[in-house]
Amino acid sequence: MDIHRYEKIWLAGALLLIVGFIATVSYGAVGAGIEMVNDEGGQVDPASLDDHPRFGEPGTYQSGPNEYDVYVVAQQFAFVPGTQEPIRVPANSRVTFHVTSRDVTHGFEVVGTNANTMAIPGQVATITVEFGDATEDGYGLLCHEYCGAAHHAMEGSIEVVPQSEWNESMAVN
Ligand code: CUA
Repeated sequence: MDIHRYEKIWLAGALLLIVGFIATVSYGAVGAGIEMVNDEGGQVDPASLDDHPRFGEPGTYQSGPNEYDVYVVAQQFAFVPGTQEPIRVPANSRVTFHVTSRDVTHGFEVVGTNANTMAIPGQVATITVEFGDATEDGYGLLCHEYCGAAHHAMEGSIEVVPQSEWNESMAVN
């Protein structure tokens, strides 16, 4: 069977495109520090979050030198903390967010970064973020999963406090 030269070129081009698309999709899924949220954050009973040693009093907890854990409860239609008052973290720190939901599935996105997870009732999502210098504006927080009538208004902020101004009273909000 004789394949015309132009047809061979088009076949090769189409093949290259397919390989190229698979490569970009693969890179988007696992490259550039992207990883899926797994179940290592553990589970909680969404009905008794108030009795939980951390989610009962959500906020920032120091776990080591320059290492912090931030516990956040997402609920219709606020992040606690984050919405009423900003989440406060010290500058130049490594912060692990533990995020869960009290009611329905929410999203938790640190705007302008690739820190982004779902907040699912019963499940604790953990994501670790390295914060640099203190920023005047901090970071925005967004809910990116439709969670009800005021989903579009569910937002918050993170304040990066200079280490010299950081003190224990800021730790738990
Ligand atoms: Cu919470 Cu959308």
